[in-house]
This record gives sequence, structure tokens and C-alpha cells, in this order.
Amino acid sequence: MNLKDLYIDFFVSHGHKQIPSAPVVPENDPSVLFNTAGMQPLIPYLMGKEHPCGKRLCNYQKCVRTNDLESIGDTFHHTFFEMLGNWSLGDYFKKEAIEWSFEFLTKVLKIPKEKLAVTVFKGNDLIPKDEEAINIWLSLGINRKKIYETVEDNFWIAGETGPCGPDTEMFYFRSNDEIPEYFDPNDSRWVEIWNDVFMQYYKDENGNVTQSERKNVDTGMGLERVVATLEGVLDNYKSSIWSDVISLIEKISNKPYEGNEKAMRIIADHIRTAVFISSDPAMIKPSNTDQGYILRRLIRRAIRYASKLEIDPNINWEEQIACLIMDKYKKYYSELETNYNVVLEVLKNEKIKFNKTLEKGLKEFERITNNLNSNVLNKDLAFKLYDTYGFPIELTLELASEKNISVDEEGFKEKFKEHQEKSRTASQGKFKGGLASTGEIETKYHTATHLLNAALKKVVGNTVHQMGSNINQDRMRFDFSCDHKLSDLEKTQVEDLVNGWIKDSIDVTFKEMKKEDAIKSGAECMFIEKYPDIVTVYSIGDISKELCGGPHVKNTSEIGKFKIIKEEASSAGVRRIKAVIEK
Ligand code: ALA
Repeated sequence: MNLKDLYIDFFVSHGHKQIPSAPVVPENDPSVLFNTAGMQPLIPYLMGKEHPCGKRLCNYQKCVRTNDLESIGDTFHHTFFEMLGNWSLGDYFKKEAIEWSFEFLTKVLKIPKEKLAVTVFKGNDLIPKDEEAINIWLSLGINRKKIYETVEDNFWIAGETGPCGPDTEMFYFRSNDEIPEYFDPNDSRWVEIWNDVFMQYYKDENGNVTQSERKNVDTGMGLERVVATLEGVLDNYKSSIWSDVISLIEKISNKPYEGNEKAMRIIADHIRTAVFISSDPAMIKPSNTDQGYILRRLIRRAIRYASKLEIDPNINWEEQIACLIMDKYKKYYSELETNYNVVLEVLKNEKIKFNKTLEKGLKEFERITNNLNSNVLNKDLAFKLYDTYGFPIELTLELASEKNISVDEEGFKEKFKEHQEKSRTASQGKFKGGLASTGEIETKYHTATHLLNAALKKVVGNTVHQMGSNINQDRMRFDFSCDHKLSDLEKTQVEDLVNGWIKDSIDVTFKEMKKEDAIKSGAECMFIEKYPDIVTVYSIGDISKELCGGPHVKNTSEIGKFKIIKEEASSAGVRRIKAVIEK
């Protein structure tokens, strides 16, 4: 059985409800581009909001961390990973959390306790040593010499502010050497596998740490690392998570992994992350800002390493790898099934785009660097490579370092930032929106989105399903399944229906209900598995009934005049409408 299933079964058997992985692009938190830990989507609940699934939760969460792209290519860094987690929202605390961690590791995973060691919080001026955690570990039979106290590494917080607290990290001795008497967390034979955070504090913007009213537990176990550790491999890419992907890249490139590790790891890692970003409900496409730019860089870096491996750019190598990955994961993430073709199209289009400029750009790079008077590439040249040939900075850095040339990276970043600000304001397709900002105008757009969905079903047919939506102050965007370009007549009919409903002054009501009852009652939703067991269903008279977190206007008459400004293709079988409301 696989680790995800073992973990979930174990915590469900201890009274936890499994909650679905939240999207990798946060829905309610514009402060971060991606979810980087399982707890991130749960912050409102860790801060006191009642979770509809109760006080004991567990899941596996899609996470993306792209802050050190350059490390990818080693044996254990990944830009995408899955984090297993269990949470107590004001329910159990240290004793149960640690005991269950221990039970899972020793009974379910059958790790001998001699191979385990832990770190705990040593205490500082503000917060005392975590004696409680030490005593619980001792009571479970962990030797005192295997309990190591630190200050820096044993206090966990997701960012600068928010729920936080001391933690205890569990380590596994990954070696056949004799186990040393004392545990030293800096000895690389000890690998960190799990972290239990005891969230009993809150840190505010001024750096003040105060006791929270409620004590929570947040735990996180990095799946890749634990699987590799348990399978006894020192290179994560040799574990069962990756071995088939690497074999496929060997086959496609007709080269062995040995000697080509870095390129193959980068291709495997980056394509997998690109698959998860582009299949996410936020429908991110490669672009030059925000998440879209991360997606672009990942794909382009993979393409460049494929070219290093001399993979023929005209074969569908990216598709083969993406399909293998999607087939492996779709049992756990249904969006991979739903958006299978969307992902393939994103990869293919970006490959075609980049292949057009890559070769020219490489030539230009050679020309520029052969004519340098020093061994520094200035910011303007680095920016030209980006702007004209689409070279993300890390590509320029990598190429330059191969020729022992340094790059004015800081200067580039400044220029890049200026440029990004410009394109951000210029671009309408800015991702924030969604539920991130919920002012008056956005609220109107939310309700108009439901009306548009209903109108499209009436005009085009019941095959229309929402595939994505995005709202900002200036417009709404709505993606839906549809096999043809809407005719002018269809567009007018849709507008007329929506405006008719607005004129009819229909009340918008909502009701909390069990998810299965909501579905039975015919309520619509985009990703059923993304919702908790108790959901909010918004109804607009008998015109629309959808699972939705809101917010919405109370009556359709508040909306204003609805107008479609654009109807275009979004991807294969998906059309996109941009619409505005006028006073
Ligand atoms: N949120 C904690 C971590 O990421 C569990 O380590």
C-alpha cells in the first residue's frame, strides 16, 4: 500500500476527517503565489474559524516551492511536493500528537525506534523549553541521548506573521552504519521526516508573540523524502515516486541516467510541477507575471535541459512525460483527469513558442559573450536575452557559468521588476481576483458569474460547465466547456437573459448543507472533491444553484448592466468570456 493511503487510514482511524488537497494556487490568500505547506489553506481555521469537517483533520496537500530553483538537480530538492498532515483545531495537543506520530512510524511503517531521533524546542527569553515534549518522547522509549534541543530550528511559522509555536522534528537514521550514541541533527545520515508543530502562539506585524486562545497541532511530512528514506535510496529520483519517470526520460533521450542525472532530474521535476500548476483550478497559463511566469520558467528550463540531452524538439517528449505523471497521480487528484488536455496544450504551446527563440537566443548568447570586454554580462544584455529571446534569468546564469562569466543579476532583477510592474498593470488577466478581494464590485461580479453560467446553459446547452473563473475590480472572466465559438446571436441571448434576471430583482439566498445533499438537490460545482462535507449552496430564485463560498449580493437588482466584452478560445474545448457590469 502506498504511504498516502497508509497515512490517511491511520489518522481517519484516530477520528480525523480527510479533507481534500486545496488548489496549489491559494484561493483566498493573495500574499503568496503558491501553497507551500499543508497548513497554509487552513490558516483561518487555525486562527479560530470553525471548520465544517470538525476539529481533527488530515490530508495530503499539493505544495509548490520555487525559491531555490538552482538547487533542483540535486538528489532531494523538488519544486513540487506533497505534504502529509494531520491537524487538531483546539482538540488534542502534544501528548496525542506525539504518540500518534510515534505509533505511525513504529507500528505502521515499522521503523525500529532505535532508528528514530527527535529535536525539541530549547526555550528562549520569551518561550520556555518544551519539557512536555521531551517527557512524552521519553515515555515512549526514546533515549534522552536521541533528543536534541535547538532554538532556531524548532519554532515554526509559515511566513513572517501568523499562528506559530514550538515544534518537534523526527529524524530517521538512513544508513547501515552503527547508530551513534548521541543524535546530531547535522549528521547527514539522520534525515528529517516529520514535523509536529504545537501552535499555541500568534505573531503579529510588530513581532509580538502572544498566546493563542486555542491550542492547535499542525504536522507535516514530506512524502518524497519519506518514501525515498523507507525504500533505502539516497537519491529521491531512484525511489518509486520517480523511477518510472526517469526510465522514460532515459528511453526518450536514449541516454543513461548515470552521467546525466542533473538534466534528467530537472526535466522530471519541472514537468511534474508544470503539470500540477497548469491543471490547478486557477487555470494558470505561461506568462510574464506571477504564477504564470513561474510556470513559464519551469517549462523553459525543462526544454533547455531536454535540448542538452539532445532530445529531438519535434517529438512529443513533454507530452509523454506529462501523461505518465498524470496517469500516476490522477487517482489522488481528479483535476488531472479533468484538465488532462489543458495541461498537454499548455506544455506543447510553450514548447513551440520557446523552441522558436531558443536556438536564435543561444546563438545571440554566444555572439554577446564572445564579444565581452570583461567577464561580466551586464543587466541590459541579460535583459535583452529575456525580452527578445525569452530567456529566464536562471537560463542566462547557467549558460554564463558554463563559460565562467558572471551576470549582473541584481541589475537584471531591477529591470525585470520595472518591466513586470508595467505588464502587470497592462494585463487584464491578472490572477489576484478570485475570492481574494471582496469589495462591493467584486461581490456583484460573483453573482453575475452564477447568472452567466446559468444563461450559457440555457443558450448553449447543458454540456456547458464552468472550467474556471477570475474576478477583479474591472471585469469578470469565465471559462467554460464548449466546442464552438459563440455566435453573435448566442452572445446577445446570453446577455439578454442575464440582464432580464437582473431586472427581475430576484433574491439571492444561501443554505449550508451536507455535500451529498447539495449534489442530490442538483447544485452545481466545479470540483466536487474540493469541497468540505458541509457546503454553502447559493440559489438565485430557481435560475441557479451552486456550491460557492460567496460573497454575493442579496438581490440581483443590485448588480447593474451586464455586458460581454470578449469571447475567445481558452484552450481545446474551452471558451472564455470576459464581461463587465456597468452602472
Ligand atoms: N507546517 C509544518 C511544516 O511545514 C508542519 O513543517
